[in-house]
Amino acid sequence: MLILGIETSCDETAAAVVKDGNKILSSQVYSQIDIHSQFGGVVPELASRSHNEQIIPVVAEAIKKAKIKIEDINVVAATRGPGLIGSLLVGFSFAKAFSFAKNIPCAGVDHLCGHICSILLEKYPPEFPFVSLLVSGGHTNIYYVKSPLEYELMGRTRDDAAGEAYDKVSKMLGRGYPGGKIIDDLAKKGNPLKIKFPKPYLDKELFDFSFSGLKTAVLRYIQTHEKEYKDNIENIAASFQNSATDVLSYKIINAAIVKNTKNVVIVGGVAANEGLRKKVTEKAKEKNLKVYFPSYELCGDNGAMIAAAGYYYAKKGIFIKPEDDVYSRIRLD
Ligand code: KG4
Ligand code: ZN
Repeated sequence: MLILGIETSCDETAAAVVKDGNKILSSQVYSQIDIHSQFGGVVPELASRSHNEQIIPVVAEAIKKAKIKIEDINVVAATRGPGLIGSLLVGFSFAKAFSFAKNIPCAGVDHLCGHICSILLEKYPPEFPFVSLLVSGGHTNIYYVKSPLEYELMGRTRDDAAGEAYDKVSKMLGRGYPGGKIIDDLAKKGNPLKIKFPKPYLDKELFDFSFSGLKTAVLRYIQTHEKEYKDNIENIAASFQNSATDVLSYKIINAAIVKNTKNVVIVGGVAANEGLRKKVTEKAKEKNLKVYFPSYELCGDNGAMIAAAGYYYAKKGIFIKPEDDVYSRIRLD
Protein backbone atom coordinates (compact mmCIF):
# COMPACT_ATOMS: atom_id res chain seq x y z
CA MET A 1 0.00 0.00 0.00
CA LEU A 2 1.44 3.40 -1.00
CA ILE A 3 0.49 6.28 1.26
CA LEU A 4 1.10 9.96 0.66
CA GLY A 5 1.49 11.60 4.09
CA ILE A 6 1.00 15.33 4.59
CA GLU A 7 1.86 17.36 7.68
CA THR A 8 1.13 21.08 8.15
CA SER A 9 0.12 21.39 11.82
CA CYS A 10 2.69 24.01 12.80
CA ASP A 11 5.72 25.44 11.00
CA GLU A 12 6.85 22.63 8.72
CA THR A 13 5.27 21.89 5.35
CA ALA A 14 6.01 18.20 4.93
CA ALA A 15 5.07 15.39 2.57
CA ALA A 16 6.29 11.82 2.22
CA VAL A 17 5.54 8.61 0.39
CA VAL A 18 5.62 5.50 2.57
CA LYS A 19 5.13 1.90 1.44
CA ASP A 20 3.25 -0.57 3.66
CA GLY A 21 3.51 1.67 6.72
CA ASN A 22 7.26 1.26 7.21
CA LYS A 23 9.33 1.90 4.09
CA ILE A 24 10.06 5.56 3.39
CA LEU A 25 10.30 6.13 -0.37
CA SER A 26 10.66 9.90 0.03
CA SER A 27 10.31 12.54 2.73
CA GLN A 28 10.33 16.28 2.06
CA VAL A 29 10.29 18.85 4.85
CA TYR A 30 10.14 22.57 4.19
CA SER A 31 10.94 24.38 7.44
CA GLN A 32 9.59 27.88 8.08
CA ILE A 33 12.24 28.63 10.74
CA ASP A 34 13.66 31.57 8.76
CA ILE A 35 10.21 33.17 8.58
CA HIS A 36 9.45 32.90 12.32
CA SER A 37 12.88 33.17 13.96
CA GLN A 38 12.91 36.99 13.81
CA PHE A 39 9.74 36.96 15.95
CA GLY A 40 11.08 34.41 18.47
CA GLY A 41 8.16 32.04 17.86
CA VAL A 42 5.61 30.87 15.30
CA VAL A 43 3.34 33.59 13.86
CA PRO A 44 0.17 31.65 12.90
CA GLU A 45 -0.89 33.94 10.04
CA LEU A 46 2.54 33.77 8.40
CA ALA A 47 2.62 30.01 8.93
CA SER A 48 -0.62 29.38 7.01
CA ARG A 49 0.44 31.65 4.16
CA SER A 50 3.74 29.85 3.83
CA HIS A 51 2.04 26.41 3.91
CA ASN A 52 -0.21 27.64 1.13
CA GLU A 53 2.80 28.58 -1.01
CA GLN A 54 4.74 25.41 -0.28
CA ILE A 55 2.16 22.61 -0.19
CA ILE A 56 2.04 21.89 -3.94
CA PRO A 57 5.82 22.05 -4.58
CA VAL A 58 6.57 19.96 -1.47
CA VAL A 59 4.04 17.24 -2.40
CA ALA A 60 5.19 17.26 -6.04
CA GLU A 61 8.82 16.81 -4.94
CA ALA A 62 7.90 13.96 -2.57
CA ILE A 63 6.11 12.12 -5.40
CA LYS A 64 9.00 12.75 -7.80
CA LYS A 65 11.67 11.56 -5.33
CA ALA A 66 9.64 8.42 -4.54
CA LYS A 67 9.83 7.59 -8.27
CA ILE A 68 6.16 6.72 -8.40
CA LYS A 69 3.23 8.00 -10.46
CA ILE A 70 0.37 9.88 -8.79
CA GLU A 71 -1.92 7.05 -9.91
CA ASP A 72 0.07 4.57 -7.79
CA ILE A 73 -0.95 6.26 -4.52
CA ASN A 74 -3.57 4.22 -2.65
CA VAL A 75 -4.36 6.53 0.28
CA VAL A 76 -3.68 10.15 1.19
CA ALA A 77 -3.17 10.82 4.91
CA ALA A 78 -3.02 14.33 6.37
CA THR A 79 -2.74 15.72 9.88
CA ARG A 80 -6.20 16.67 11.12
CA GLY A 81 -5.17 18.02 14.56
CA PRO A 82 -4.08 19.14 17.07
CA GLY A 83 -2.22 22.22 15.87
CA LEU A 84 -2.72 25.70 14.47
CA ILE A 85 -6.09 25.77 12.71
CA GLY A 86 -4.96 27.93 9.77
CA SER A 87 -1.95 25.68 9.22
CA LEU A 88 -3.87 22.41 9.56
CA LEU A 89 -6.50 23.63 7.09
CA VAL A 90 -3.94 23.99 4.29
CA GLY A 91 -2.69 20.39 4.40
CA PHE A 92 -6.04 18.86 5.30
CA SER A 93 -7.94 20.72 2.56
CA PHE A 94 -5.22 19.82 0.07
CA ALA A 95 -5.59 16.14 1.04
CA LYS A 96 -9.37 16.31 0.70
CA ALA A 97 -9.08 17.82 -2.78
CA PHE A 98 -6.42 15.25 -3.75
CA SER A 99 -8.60 12.42 -2.49
CA PHE A 100 -11.62 13.72 -4.41
CA ALA A 101 -9.70 14.33 -7.64
CA LYS A 102 -7.93 10.96 -7.59
CA ASN A 103 -10.85 9.02 -6.14
CA ILE A 104 -8.79 7.54 -3.31
CA PRO A 105 -9.62 7.51 0.42
CA CYS A 106 -8.29 10.14 2.82
CA ALA A 107 -7.21 9.45 6.41
CA GLY A 108 -7.35 12.39 8.86
CA VAL A 109 -4.43 11.53 11.17
CA ASP A 110 -3.94 12.73 14.73
CA HIS A 111 -0.56 14.49 14.97
CA LEU A 112 0.31 12.77 18.26
CA CYS A 113 -0.50 9.37 16.80
CA GLY A 114 1.83 10.33 13.94
CA HIS A 115 4.69 11.07 16.35
CA ILE A 116 4.19 7.72 18.11
CA CYS A 117 4.09 5.86 14.78
CA SER A 118 7.38 7.52 13.75
CA ILE A 119 9.15 4.76 15.69
CA LEU A 120 7.51 2.12 13.47
CA LEU A 121 9.51 3.50 10.52
CA GLU A 122 12.78 2.39 12.11
CA LYS A 123 14.56 -0.74 10.95
CA TYR A 124 14.05 -2.44 14.33
CA PRO A 125 10.75 -1.13 15.73
CA PRO A 126 9.62 -1.97 19.27
CA GLU A 127 7.10 -4.66 19.99
CA PHE A 128 3.74 -3.71 21.53
CA PRO A 129 2.85 -2.84 24.20
CA PHE A 130 5.26 -0.04 25.09
CA VAL A 131 5.26 3.17 27.06
CA SER A 132 5.94 6.33 25.10
CA LEU A 133 7.09 9.78 26.09
CA LEU A 134 5.82 12.22 23.48
CA VAL A 135 7.85 15.33 24.04
CA SER A 136 7.61 18.25 21.62
CA GLY A 137 6.99 21.98 21.38
CA GLY A 138 3.29 21.53 22.07
CA HIS A 139 3.05 18.36 24.18
CA THR A 140 4.68 16.41 26.97
CA ASN A 141 2.61 13.27 27.46
CA ILE A 142 3.20 9.71 28.60
CA TYR A 143 1.14 6.99 26.92
CA TYR A 144 0.79 3.28 27.37
CA VAL A 145 0.57 2.13 23.76
CA LYS A 146 -1.18 -1.21 23.19
CA SER A 147 -1.22 -1.14 19.39
CA PRO A 148 -0.59 1.53 16.69
CA LEU A 149 -3.96 3.15 17.38
CA GLU A 150 -4.69 2.19 21.00
CA TYR A 151 -3.41 4.55 23.67
CA GLU A 152 -3.91 5.11 27.36
CA LEU A 153 -2.84 8.55 28.58
CA MET A 154 -0.82 8.12 31.78
CA GLY A 155 0.37 11.69 32.29
CA ARG A 156 0.66 15.09 30.67
CA THR A 157 2.07 18.52 31.32
CA ARG A 158 -0.10 20.74 33.48
CA ASP A 159 1.31 23.90 31.88
CA ASP A 160 4.17 24.35 29.38
CA ALA A 161 5.47 21.58 27.12
CA ALA A 162 9.15 20.70 27.53
CA GLY A 163 10.04 21.98 24.04
CA GLU A 164 8.24 25.24 24.80
CA ALA A 165 10.40 25.64 27.95
CA TYR A 166 13.55 25.05 25.86
CA ASP A 167 12.39 27.68 23.36
CA LYS A 168 11.65 30.21 26.12
CA VAL A 169 14.94 29.66 27.96
CA SER A 170 16.82 30.19 24.70
CA LYS A 171 14.93 33.45 24.20
CA MET A 172 15.73 34.57 27.79
CA LEU A 173 19.40 33.94 27.10
CA GLY A 174 19.19 36.05 23.95
CA ARG A 175 19.64 33.05 21.68
CA GLY A 176 17.65 31.97 18.63
CA TYR A 177 14.46 30.08 17.83
CA PRO A 178 13.75 27.19 18.04
CA GLY A 179 15.76 26.90 21.21
CA GLY A 180 15.95 23.14 21.80
CA LYS A 181 19.03 22.37 19.74
CA ILE A 182 20.70 25.65 20.79
CA ILE A 183 20.32 24.87 24.52
CA ASP A 184 21.32 21.24 23.92
CA ASP A 185 24.57 22.38 22.25
CA LEU A 186 25.31 25.00 24.94
CA ALA A 187 24.62 22.43 27.66
CA LYS A 188 27.39 20.17 26.35
CA LYS A 189 29.91 22.87 27.30
CA GLY A 190 28.48 23.71 30.73
CA ASN A 191 28.38 22.24 34.22
CA PRO A 192 24.95 20.66 34.88
CA LEU A 193 25.44 20.87 38.64
CA LYS A 194 26.51 24.53 38.73
CA ILE A 195 23.05 26.01 39.41
CA LYS A 196 20.34 24.24 41.37
CA PHE A 197 17.14 24.64 39.37
CA PRO A 198 13.95 22.88 40.55
CA LYS A 199 13.02 19.43 39.23
CA PRO A 200 9.26 19.89 39.10
CA TYR A 201 7.00 16.99 40.07
CA LEU A 202 9.98 14.66 40.53
CA ASP A 203 8.75 13.90 44.03
CA LYS A 204 5.20 13.16 42.90
CA GLU A 205 3.92 9.68 42.20
CA LEU A 206 2.02 11.08 39.22
CA PHE A 207 3.14 10.89 35.61
CA ASP A 208 2.16 14.52 35.07
CA PHE A 209 4.73 17.23 34.37
CA SER A 210 5.07 20.95 34.96
CA PHE A 211 7.72 23.06 33.25
CA SER A 212 6.55 26.60 33.87
CA GLY A 213 8.15 26.78 37.37
CA LEU A 214 11.49 25.61 35.98
CA LYS A 215 11.30 28.21 33.23
CA THR A 216 10.50 30.94 35.79
CA ALA A 217 13.40 29.79 37.99
CA VAL A 218 15.77 30.33 35.04
CA LEU A 219 14.27 33.79 34.45
CA ARG A 220 14.66 34.67 38.15
CA TYR A 221 18.29 33.54 38.07
CA ILE A 222 18.98 35.76 35.06
CA GLN A 223 17.25 38.74 36.68
CA THR A 224 19.11 38.36 39.97
CA HIS A 225 22.51 37.75 38.35
CA GLU A 226 22.36 40.55 35.84
CA LYS A 227 26.13 41.17 35.74
CA GLU A 228 27.57 37.68 35.81
CA TYR A 229 24.94 35.60 33.99
CA LYS A 230 26.41 36.36 30.55
CA ASP A 231 29.62 34.54 31.55
CA ASN A 232 27.52 31.65 32.75
CA ILE A 233 25.27 30.91 29.77
CA GLU A 234 26.62 27.41 29.21
CA ASN A 235 26.19 26.54 32.89
CA ILE A 236 22.62 27.90 32.88
CA ALA A 237 21.80 25.81 29.79
CA ALA A 238 23.41 22.69 31.28
CA SER A 239 21.71 23.11 34.66
CA PHE A 240 18.30 23.74 33.06
CA GLN A 241 18.74 20.73 30.79
CA ASN A 242 19.80 18.61 33.76
CA SER A 243 16.58 19.42 35.63
CA ALA A 244 14.32 18.94 32.59
CA THR A 245 15.90 15.64 31.50
CA ASP A 246 16.01 14.26 35.05
CA VAL A 247 12.23 14.66 35.33
CA LEU A 248 11.48 13.37 31.81
CA SER A 249 13.69 10.29 32.13
CA TYR A 250 12.62 9.42 35.68
CA LYS A 251 8.91 9.50 34.78
CA ILE A 252 9.11 7.47 31.58
CA ILE A 253 11.29 4.78 33.19
CA ASN A 254 8.86 4.62 36.09
CA ALA A 255 5.93 4.34 33.67
CA ALA A 256 7.55 1.27 32.09
CA ILE A 257 8.04 -0.30 35.52
CA VAL A 258 4.45 0.42 36.60
CA LYS A 259 3.09 -1.04 33.34
CA ASN A 260 5.48 -3.96 33.51
CA THR A 261 6.72 -3.46 29.96
CA LYS A 262 10.33 -3.69 28.76
CA ASN A 263 9.97 -1.23 25.89
CA VAL A 264 10.38 2.52 26.21
CA VAL A 265 9.82 4.81 23.23
CA ILE A 266 10.72 8.52 23.13
CA VAL A 267 9.24 10.57 20.26
CA GLY A 268 8.70 14.22 19.22
CA GLY A 269 11.03 17.15 18.56
CA VAL A 270 12.70 17.00 22.01
CA ALA A 271 13.52 13.29 21.44
CA ALA A 272 16.44 14.70 19.39
CA ASN A 273 17.95 16.06 22.62
CA GLU A 274 21.37 14.52 23.22
CA GLY A 275 21.18 14.97 26.98
CA LEU A 276 17.80 13.24 27.14
CA ARG A 277 18.91 10.38 24.88
CA LYS A 278 21.96 9.75 27.05
CA LYS A 279 20.10 9.92 30.36
CA VAL A 280 17.18 7.70 29.35
CA THR A 281 19.54 5.16 27.79
CA GLU A 282 21.61 4.96 31.01
CA LYS A 283 18.58 4.68 33.29
CA ALA A 284 16.95 2.08 31.07
CA LYS A 285 20.10 -0.03 31.13
CA GLU A 286 20.10 0.01 34.93
CA LYS A 287 16.50 -1.30 34.92
CA ASN A 288 17.03 -3.75 32.09
CA LEU A 289 14.65 -1.92 29.74
CA LYS A 290 15.01 -1.32 25.99
CA VAL A 291 14.84 2.25 24.68
CA TYR A 292 13.85 3.32 21.19
CA PHE A 293 14.43 6.76 19.68
CA PRO A 294 13.47 7.70 16.13
CA SER A 295 16.35 8.79 13.89
CA TYR A 296 16.92 12.56 14.12
CA GLU A 297 15.02 13.44 10.95
CA LEU A 298 11.93 11.63 12.25
CA CYS A 299 11.86 13.39 15.67
CA GLY A 300 10.62 16.75 14.39
CA ASP A 301 7.43 17.10 12.38
CA ASN A 302 7.47 15.20 9.08
CA GLY A 303 5.14 13.62 6.54
CA ALA A 304 6.50 10.08 6.89
CA MET A 305 5.14 9.67 10.42
CA ILE A 306 1.70 10.81 9.23
CA ALA A 307 1.83 8.26 6.39
CA ALA A 308 2.94 5.56 8.87
CA ALA A 309 -0.03 6.29 11.14
CA GLY A 310 -2.28 6.64 8.07
CA TYR A 311 -1.43 3.05 7.15
CA TYR A 312 -3.07 1.79 10.36
CA TYR A 313 -6.10 4.07 9.87
CA ALA A 314 -6.43 2.64 6.36
CA LYS A 315 -6.09 -0.96 7.55
CA LYS A 316 -9.00 -0.31 9.91
CA GLY A 317 -10.97 1.57 7.24
CA ILE A 318 -10.93 4.83 9.23
CA PHE A 319 -11.33 7.51 6.57
CA ILE A 320 -12.73 11.02 6.66
CA LYS A 321 -15.97 12.23 5.15
CA PRO A 322 -15.90 15.29 2.88
CA GLU A 323 -17.51 17.47 5.56
CA ASP A 324 -15.01 16.56 8.31
CA ASP A 325 -13.07 19.46 9.79
CA VAL A 326 -9.70 19.93 11.50
CA TYR A 327 -9.36 20.25 15.31
CA SER A 328 -6.97 22.34 17.37
CA ARG A 329 -6.97 20.60 20.76
CA ILE A 330 -5.61 17.26 21.90
CA ARG A 331 -7.87 14.24 21.39
CA LEU A 332 -5.63 11.38 22.43
CA ASP A 333 -6.73 11.38 26.07
O1 KG4 B 1 7.70 17.75 17.23
P1 KG4 B 1 8.09 19.14 16.86
O2 KG4 B 1 8.88 19.33 15.57
O3 KG4 B 1 6.84 20.08 16.75
C1 KG4 B 1 5.75 19.98 17.64
O4 KG4 B 1 4.86 19.12 17.39
O5 KG4 B 1 5.79 20.76 18.62
O6 KG4 B 1 8.92 19.74 18.10
C2 KG4 B 1 9.48 21.02 18.09
C3 KG4 B 1 10.13 21.27 19.44
C4 KG4 B 1 10.65 22.70 19.62
O7 KG4 B 1 10.20 23.20 20.86
C5 KG4 B 1 12.17 22.52 19.61
O8 KG4 B 1 12.87 23.50 20.39
C6 KG4 B 1 12.31 21.16 20.22
O9 KG4 B 1 11.27 20.41 19.63
N1 KG4 B 1 13.62 20.55 19.93
C7 KG4 B 1 14.52 20.22 20.86
C8 KG4 B 1 15.67 19.74 20.19
N2 KG4 B 1 15.41 19.77 18.86
C9 KG4 B 1 14.15 20.27 18.71
N3 KG4 B 1 14.45 20.33 22.20
C10 KG4 B 1 15.53 19.92 22.91
N4 KG4 B 1 16.66 19.47 22.35
C11 KG4 B 1 16.79 19.35 21.00
N5 KG4 B 1 17.92 18.89 20.47
ZN1 ZN C 1 4.95 17.54 16.35
